[in-house]
Amino acid sequence: MGRLVVVSNRVTLPDENRAGGLAVAVHGALRESGGLWFGWSGRIDPETSGQLRERHDGNIHYATMDLSHRDHADYYDGFANRTLWPLLHFRMDLVDYSRETHAGYRRVNALFAQKLVPLLHTDDTIWVHDYHLIPMAQQLRVHGVRCRLGFFLHVPMPSSDLLAALPDHARLFEDLSSYDLIGFQTTRDLERFQDYVRLFGRGRVIRSGVLETYGGHRLRAGAFPISIDTPMIASQAAAAISKASVRRLAASLSRRALAIGVDRLDYSKGLPERFRAFARYLERHPGQRGKLTYLQIAPVSRSGVAEYRALRGELEQLAGHINGGHADADWTPMRYVNRNYPHASLTGFYRLARVGLVTPLRDGMNLVAKEFVAAQDPEDPGVLVLSSFAGAARELHEALIVNPYDIDGVADAIEMAVTMPLAERRERWQAMMAQLQEHDIVAWRRDYLRALREG
Ligand code: F6P
Repeated sequence: MGRLVVVSNRVTLPDENRAGGLAVAVHGALRESGGLWFGWSGRIDPETSGQLRERHDGNIHYATMDLSHRDHADYYDGFANRTLWPLLHFRMDLVDYSRETHAGYRRVNALFAQKLVPLLHTDDTIWVHDYHLIPMAQQLRVHGVRCRLGFFLHVPMPSSDLLAALPDHARLFEDLSSYDLIGFQTTRDLERFQDYVRLFGRGRVIRSGVLETYGGHRLRAGAFPISIDTPMIASQAAAAISKASVRRLAASLSRRALAIGVDRLDYSKGLPERFRAFARYLERHPGQRGKLTYLQIAPVSRSGVAEYRALRGELEQLAGHINGGHADADWTPMRYVNRNYPHASLTGFYRLARVGLVTPLRDGMNLVAKEFVAAQDPEDPGVLVLSSFAGAARELHEALIVNPYDIDGVADAIEMAVTMPLAERRERWQAMMAQLQEHDIVAWRRDYLRALREG
């Protein structure tokens, strides 16, 4: 078995405390076969842009590249996050398309490919991640790379009509056609992609998961739902309960129940709708006043994009309004926090919570939903309120599944979660935990890489 080469926009270096799903999966896979992780360094520096920073840690080689201001603006803030991100999250109204940023996106992909090629071996397997890097395979093929090339889309695949509204959709499809395997989060995403191919793509679906594209190239596609390191999260959460930050949160609640949400500050996460649903719950259940505290952790994200800055203002206003209208001298209903917490503390916070609120308007998977479940105390588990538009809802059937646009419905689910008897909480939790034990992060990467290598 040759090396694994992972290409993603962000790279997690060994000493960085980012224990996200992708970082855990990628490190595990790279350690197994040895390999290279390549991507953006996270730095914008006109002096060093285009230069490689390399590092070795055991059998893993890390190579990252700085970007210039212009490349970052066109590629990351521009085409990736102002055009593709809203489009892929069904927000055509927010799509901002320009030929200039599209050209910048292709320029940076070409630059990445050019820097990556000299680092490759002929028997490498290359795994490219997410919407930032769709043209990567095509660019590598131009340089004569013949390795097996796989792509995984972490975010949703939108309906075919939406995708076709993008001026350059045919070009993107051509880019995707250069891969050997495309992985989606759910079978719904796969179906929507195949619908697009049937209706708009220059190719045909031979059977589900097998397509023929340009020049008779055979492209395989499948659903590979990403997951978490279930036993690690469970033991981390159990240990985190005695951490100072978790103990402080528990003490500050003064025996009140906790509802928690943890999301990047992103319009796809449905935060204004969730805040309104919480307010509705308080209005409709005056007897519950002072009994439930909602902690929303929302680290600021992509602040170079106007919609994200506007959302931040909106949430500040809403949180202030809710607290102003419902708080008491000794109780604040909402705690709204923009800072980031170490992953271990978050798992402890999840374990303390009676209610986990995961209500995105659209989400590829949402690993917070899965981590919330894995972090619970088996004797006294909390209840997950989960949007039907998160990929996770296709696996976690025993959550309270809600439509995040239905403010009253989410308010009802909060009430149901708060009052749910222990026996029902346990039953629901056990079923979800069994699913997460079987389909964990190791199974995800093994299934994907087996499909890619065997293809
Ligand atoms: O989940 C989608 C995603 O874009 C990941 O690729 C990314 O790591 C994460 O969201 C955070 O976004 P960003 O890298 O823009 O901060």
